Amino acid sequence: MAEPQAAAASPASARILFVGDVVGGLGRRTLLDCLPVLRELHAPTFVVVNGENAAGGLGITPKIADQMFAAGVDAITLGNHTYHRREIYPYLASGKPIVRPANFLRSQPGRGVCVVEHDGVRLGVVSLSGNLYLRAGRSAFTEIEVALGELGEVEHILLDMHAEATSAKVAMGWHLDGRVTAVVGTHTHVPTADARVLPGGTAYITDVGMTGPRGGVIGVKREQAIESLLSMMPIRFETSEEDPWLMGVLISCSARLRADSIQQVLMPRPTTAPTDR
Ligand SMILES: [Fe+2]
Ligand SMILES: [Fe+2]
Repeated sequence: MAEPQAAAASPASARILFVGDVVGGLGRRTLLDCLPVLRELHAPTFVVVNGENAAGGLGITPKIADQMFAAGVDAITLGNHTYHRREIYPYLASGKPIVRPANFLRSQPGRGVCVVEHDGVRLGVVSLSGNLYLRAGRSAFTEIEVALGELGEVEHILLDMHAEATSAKVAMGWHLDGRVTAVVGTHTHVPTADARVLPGGTAYITDVGMTGPRGGVIGVKREQAIESLLSMMPIRFETSEEDPWLMGVLISCSARLRADSIQQVLMPRPTTAPTDR
């Protein structure tokens, strides 16, 4: 058996920056402007981004995904808006590290797990969809076992649990405690205040929030969202352009499949933003 001290300084040391749902062009510019600052501050080994709202608020295109990878994003996770843009379908099967929920039907384009590697550290990334109010064909709680089995030998596993129900996310955190490095919730676009490392060593948060306009209603222009609720009539939603923030978490790890800490990253877009042209 390896002695504990040697194991603590293991080759599993890593820092994972996970960024919540990037919303529209403003969200993308916010991501691109904040990333260099966050790299300087935190030196993440891996950057994983939820991109399900990156194209005008709904879905993602190959061009946008390529732009994120070019900016140093290691993997992209998706959610219920995965299939809004048809041009992404073949891209999802191209072998790039972009994943849609693993518990979608097997007949749907894409895959639910991928592995990325840096400095000899392998990170498995898994996407799952909750089953309440979302169109996932199979149960998140049974399909997670299949997804974990597909990953093979990795040092760390990050699960993006894209779900409406806080209860499903909390339950998934407990269910996987000690078996994965992190369970991070997305989809509601509102960050929760419950980030912590569970007793078995899994970093957990119910929702990391979104990367986009805090001045709207979960990404939409607030006047339109309020009008929709007041009138009960169909309203065309546009992405808000007010008060952009990056929201995410930073997870530090030193032992295999264990997190040492998880901290929220809540950062306004820099005012002198280089992507303003
Ligand atoms: Fe979203
Ligand atoms: Fe979503």
